[in-house]
Amino acid sequence: MQDLGSPGNSVVVRAPGKINLILRVGPLRSDGYHELLTVFQAVDIWETVTVQPAADFSITVSGGANLALVPLDASNIAIKAAMAVARRLGRSDGVAIHIDKKVPVGGGMGGGSADAAATLIATNELWAGDLGTDELLDLAASLGSDVPFLLHGGTAVARGRGEKITEAESMPLHWVVVPSLKHLATPQGYARLDEIRDGQDVSVPSDVPVEFMRALAAGDPVALAPHLINDMAPAAISLHPEVATTLQMGLEIGALTAMVSGSGPTCVLLARDLDHAHLLVEACATRDRVASVVSSPVRGTHLVSGVPVPSGRN
Ligand code: C5P
Repeated sequence: MQDLGSPGNSVVVRAPGKINLILRVGPLRSDGYHELLTVFQAVDIWETVTVQPAADFSITVSGGANLALVPLDASNIAIKAAMAVARRLGRSDGVAIHIDKKVPVGGGMGGGSADAAATLIATNELWAGDLGTDELLDLAASLGSDVPFLLHGGTAVARGRGEKITEAESMPLHWVVVPSLKHLATPQGYARLDEIRDGQDVSVPSDVPVEFMRALAAGDPVALAPHLINDMAPAAISLHPEVATTLQMGLEIGALTAMVSGSGPTCVLLARDLDHAHLLVEACATRDRVASVVSSPVRGTHLVSGVPVPSGRN
């Protein structure tokens, strides 16, 4: 019989949210995904996942708004991640997962994917597993398109359905996140984009602009701003027209640019520097919009503390 370890054994892992500085969406593939060219950046909004030994798999959540949207059954991507690690390690016990959510739920900033990334690391640690980086990245890709990047963190150019990542260089950038009271399920966003495109022939560019990469590496937000683009924006606006109002507000209050984050409806405003970001947050408040400063890039998913089940006892 497997020793579940004492209930005092727990592992805490943090995973960041993400924004897409460039999100080019190509045609719908035969597997139901769209071909992408995207540039991910991890931002300093953190999901904190705690796992403890248990006979079965369970999940609880705390934290921000819209928590009622988070499924608390096996359809939750964090439980899928824990089950995948259990299978790989040949374990028949489960894990009690608690997620403290700070990334807006259903907002296009990768919160669910971050939870999955954190749970992969946490369960591998709890069970003193031997899964290495490549194996964890493979499991991550099987769970969701954004999960490999959220494991990795930093800045990356991604291709395929978003799971093929190549690290990129970036100096710090400062943003203002303007969450929406609404939420948007990613598949719904892609489906609306297909409707809008109505069979039009679309292709993804083969690479991101050289000037963009140069501005990113130099940490020059003014040079970067004109290159930021999100092909999903028309879909997010069509589903939630107030997204257009938020983007307009961002430009009116002096952001370098305003864009939809991922599939939306969260919007992000690019600031000149940290001080400018704080001024933009104040300007949002005068328009009755709650917003917050985030900085990027930050590290990927990482262990905060952990008392694994002693090895040799599973
Ligand atoms: O990979 P993930 O599970 O996060 O994707 C959720 C859904 O988003 C997919 O089932 C698909 O409908 C859509 N999607 C897509 N193209 C991508 C990524 C996601 O159409 N590249």
